[in-house]
Parts: sequence; C-alpha cells; structure tokens
Amino acid sequence: MPTTPSTWRLDAPATTLIFDLSRGVAELAYLGPGLPPEQNASVLCGALQRGAHESEPDERIPPSILPCIEAGYAGSPAVEIARAGHQLALRAESVGVEGDDAAVTFHLVDPALTLSVESRWSARHSGVIEVSQRVNFEGEDPVQLLRCASLVLPLPRWATHVTQFSGRWAAEMHATRSEISRSARLHGETQGGTPGFSGGQWLLFESADSTEHYGLSLAVHLAWSGDHTWTLRVDPDGRAVLSIGARIRPGEIVLSRHHPFVAPSAVIAVSSSGRAALRQTLHRHVLDERLPQAFSRAPRKVHLNTWEACGFALSLPKLKSLAEQAAELGIERFILDDGWFSGRRNDRSSLGDWNPSVDVFPEGLESLIRHVESLAMDFGLWIEPEMVSPDSALYRAHPDWCLAVEGLPRATQRHQLVLDLTRADVTDHLYNVIDQLLRRYSIAALKWDHNRELFPIPSGSIGQTQALYRLLDRLRETHPKVEIETCASGGGRVDYALLSRCTRFWASDNNDPIERLRINRSWLQFVPFRILGHHVGPSPNPITGRMLSMDFRAKTAMFGHMGVEADPSTMSEDDRQTLSAHIALYKEWRDVIHHGSVYELCSSDEGAAGWFVVQMNRGLALITQSLFAQHFEAEPIRLHGLEPYQRYCVRLLTPWPEHPARYLNSPQVWREGVRMTGAALAYSGISLPRRLPGTAWLIAVEAE
Ligand code: DGJ
Repeated sequence: MPTTPSTWRLDAPATTLIFDLSRGVAELAYLGPGLPPEQNASVLCGALQRGAHESEPDERIPPSILPCIEAGYAGSPAVEIARAGHQLALRAESVGVEGDDAAVTFHLVDPALTLSVESRWSARHSGVIEVSQRVNFEGEDPVQLLRCASLVLPLPRWATHVTQFSGRWAAEMHATRSEISRSARLHGETQGGTPGFSGGQWLLFESADSTEHYGLSLAVHLAWSGDHTWTLRVDPDGRAVLSIGARIRPGEIVLSRHHPFVAPSAVIAVSSSGRAALRQTLHRHVLDERLPQAFSRAPRKVHLNTWEACGFALSLPKLKSLAEQAAELGIERFILDDGWFSGRRNDRSSLGDWNPSVDVFPEGLESLIRHVESLAMDFGLWIEPEMVSPDSALYRAHPDWCLAVEGLPRATQRHQLVLDLTRADVTDHLYNVIDQLLRRYSIAALKWDHNRELFPIPSGSIGQTQALYRLLDRLRETHPKVEIETCASGGGRVDYALLSRCTRFWASDNNDPIERLRINRSWLQFVPFRILGHHVGPSPNPITGRMLSMDFRAKTAMFGHMGVEADPSTMSEDDRQTLSAHIALYKEWRDVIHHGSVYELCSSDEGAAGWFVVQMNRGLALITQSLFAQHFEAEPIRLHGLEPYQRYCVRLLTPWPEHPARYLNSPQVWREGVRMTGAALAYSGISLPRRLPGTAWLIAVEAE
C-alpha cells in the first residue's frame, strides 16, 4: 500500500499552500504568499503546533479541509448525509493523497458507508487556486446529500478582517468591512435560485493593515450561478473557518452508485501586496482561464442598447433612426432590448413567444438588421429564455412546463413564471428556438436576461442551474461566434461559472455614474473592466433622478465595456459631440483599459474616486469627484504602477470638464503634456481642480 507523505506542498505563481498530513487528516497548515523552495514543509508545520489545552477532546481534532462532526469537530462539516430522514454518521477512516506539481487530490473514505469524498486543489497559471469537491457513493441503498461544501477553508490568522457584499436591485454590491474576531459567526445564503444582487459569494479577507498597495489579502469566490450558502465561524482558539458551497435543499440530491455529486468549484487568490495585486491575479484568471477564449482579445465594441432609449415603445422608424444616430456617434453594435417579439408591448405578456412582432416589424426583423449593418454596426438581441408569461402562446400550449408545486398558486413576479429547465423537452425547445433565431437572423450578440426569482420550487435550484449551463454550452458549441451577455435585472447573476460561457455581464440597471463608481468598484475587485457593461444613460437618471453632465457620464462609462443607453435625439448638440468624443477616446484606449493592471486611486478627499490602468508603456487614469470638496485645493493624484526611472509624458485628455477647467494653471501645458518620472507620479502626483461634484478628468500617461 502506498504510504501517505506527511506534508504536501502546492505552488501557484506567488502563492504557496502546505498541507500537513501527519495526523491522519488533510490540514491546511499554510496558505499565503509564495515561500522559497528551501522552506522545509515539516518544520513549518511543526512550528505551528501547540500543546493541548483543558477545554478540548483528549485526542485533539486537527482542523481538516474535510472536517467530520463525528470526529469531534464543532463547526460545519464538509459533507452531511441522511437516509430516511436520519442523519448518518460519517467516519472517515483514511485520507489518501495523489497529485503532482499542479494539483493535489485528497480522498477521504468511509468504508462502512461506502462513501468517499474527493477534494481537488489545483494551482492555475494565473495564480489562483481552484478547489473542487466530489462525493461518491457505492452502496445499494441511496442516501440523501444534505450538505457538500465546495470549500472548507481555515483562514490564515493574519486574515483579521472580512469584506462582504450586500445589495438590492439597482444598488448592487455594497461593501462592508468588519473585524472577524468581533463576530463569532457570519453567515450568508440565497434562496431565489441565483447569486442575487447581494454578491454573497464574493468574499475578501485581509490583514488589519491591508490597503490598495500593501498588506496581506485573500479572495474567495464560489463559481456557481444558483443558490449558495456560506458560514464563517471563529472557534475558541480564535481560528476562523470559512465553509462555502451550493445550497442543497433536503431531498434535492440523492446519491447512488451512478450518481455522484460534483460540487461547484471555489476559487482562492492571495496577495502579499494589497488589493491591487489580488485584483490583478483575479483579472488574469478571468481573462485567461474563464472567458470563452475566442473573445478574450478582440476589441470590445461600443454598444447602443434600446432599453433606456425606447423602453417598450418600439417601432421600425424609431429604431432605424436610433440606429442612424448611434452610427453617427461612433457606436459599433446595436442591441435590440425587450419588446421586439410577439405581442410584448409591456411586461405583462409574451415571454416564450420569440417571434418578431409583426406590429413593430411589418417587413420582418431583417429590415432592421440590414439597416443596422448598412451603418457598419453589428446587431444584438435581448432574450429571456428561462421565463414564460402566463399570457403567451407557449404557456397556453404547455402549462406544465413551468416550475410549480402541486396545490400552490403559481405566483408571478414581473408577471412571469419560470420554465422548468430540468425537463429535457423544455431545454430542447429553448435550444431549437434560439438556434433558429441565430440561424435565421444575422445576430452577433445575445443579451440573456433573467428577471425573477425561482419560486415556488419543488426541490431546489441545483438541477435548474446545471441545465442552464448545458443549454448555454450546447448553443455555444453550435454558434461559437455569438457573444452572450449575462444579465439578471442588472447584476443579479454574475459568477465565474457563467463567465466561462459569457463575454460580458450587465453590472447594474443603475447607470447613474455616481452609483456606478461604487458598484463597479466592488465588481472590479473580482472581474476586469473588459466584461463589465457600463452605459451612458440619460440625465436625469431614470432610477436616481440625479442630473449629471454628459462629460461626467461619458468619462465614467469609458471605464468598463462602454455603451450608450439613451436616445441621442433627445440630447443637445453639445452633448452629442461630447459623447462622440468620448466614444473615440474609448476606442483609442480600450486595449489599455481592458488589459492593463488596474489600480484604485487613493485620496483622502471625500467623494474622490477613480482608477489608473497601466499596460506596458501607456496608462490612463480616471479621477472623479462626487461630493462638494471640503478644501479648495484637492490632494494631488498619485499614479502607481509605472517604472520609477522612466520619463513619461502626462496629458489631460480633452474634452475637459467645462467649469473646473477654468481653474487649470497652464491649460496649454496640460494639453501638450508635462514630463515626469514614474517615481514622481507615484509619490508627488499631479494637482487638478476638482472641487465641484460631477467633475471627472482623464489623465493619459505615455512613456517617452
Ligand atoms: C432588466 C435588464 O436589466 C434591463 O437592462 C432590461 O433589459 C430589462 N430587463 C428589459 O425587460
């Protein structure tokens, strides 16, 4: 029999993990910045041991990455199972290990139950660690799986602070940072069948002194588009253990010989130099290891989306004229949003009947697409395939196709019901309908929306989520050139599993740039600008009512995958010119914005926010001011990430914000460029007038 080594070391770029296997379980002794190869793993493990204290089992329970309650562990176990309503005691009798330099798998076996758990930790080139778990059952009599964490992670003791996210529609991703030891237990979960607006499956752990450029930090994400659950529990020793996984409802998963359970994967990233380095590792992971690779480098086209320009009030003449105005602005893709199909003149009907409306398109949808293409744009279409309106031909033909619980009313949300994707006839139908649309019309992109929670739901949402992945995979295989954007009333379903199938996500229905600066800042910790849909909306903003200049709206929307969601015919000529100038700037700088390293601008000025993105010899910064400044003179903007000894030409890109520009010291010099070294830009910075709320500047930096 092969002997189990006493330690196992796994290295990803800039990250090391050391597992201590000497006590019969897999114990994560070290997770942190990369260690030198000379570091002896056993010595490191020994240095972390302590003697027993009075208040614990006589035989100490080593903290395992696969903890079992039956072994005396008091936290959440990795796996729980039951038969006929009775929980079964899981007794792991052995831990096996196999792997190589890139990945290690731990096996935990309970011979009495004929059950085994595999936990695979793989080091990716980007520097992230991906963890996946699988439960196999070999018995005759099936058992129910009550819990299967994707990851049980004993946090390094330096991780004293946690940032978690919460939110609602149009106000996604509010970040809250708290001290872990102050709460004995933190918990989050969803039950609407998606990750929801709260961003609960994104977590950030940091040392107390951690900042943008300094300190230890750790990110954890569950790559799963359904319900999740996580718990962070601090034990009496002060050790915090995170457990995160898909939410499993009682009876939802039955294990049998031919039906193992494969949990969604979790992603871990570590940084020894603050949030900026952590962000860069995660961005690399998304760009190189998640996104459909065919799209990972192509320039991101500027969108015009009809939703905030027209709502449901669609007509062919209106759409054609919108397309003409869009083309004049420099837009490259025209997205026809909700309202194009069947009798859909409001949100009360027709989901499921995916035929172009004959009222809107008397000559067929082709006439609009031809017009859009003649203007040198490509065409995208909105769909919400997982849904059905009770008032639709599809529902009348197949009332049994939606999620429902016998005896309970079919409660609607946004006047719609959800199709049961676990039925093969339903997904075959959806595949055929979408496949036909894509074959018949020249469609470059789909905006795939999802506007309600899953209820009533007979047994949980895991099967629904897995079926969605299969449907998307099937469509992508047949139509590999079609780009898919994920949207769930904004940022209600964003995760790395969907981002393996989609090329863009709609970050929020809220296009108010001041709100978006906050929302995008949270998303940006985990996903790059390249896939973060950000549009210039109307003013006043339809959701917040706030009025902001076109200059401010356009500058902020450049930092993302830029689009326009407003009717240019309602804009002044000045605003149209300002917008088109920024679209041109976006095209000039998008490669930097989308592929460069992103640094948050740090300032003590209240209401100041922005980013500096650096790629090789070029960088572009956005600095914004959202509140009326306390001081006349703002803190200089310091730009990190450049070569200290390199000389750079620094320019303020035009158009400038009109009123603040009057306070510039030497406008001509800023237009032509000042020469500064990378070190001076990082430690001295440049001073810009930004007293007024709604001020934004673009700073271009180019090596000479
Ligand atoms: C919700 C989306 O977030 C919006 O952008 C828009 O597509 C509407 N649905 C259309 O119903």
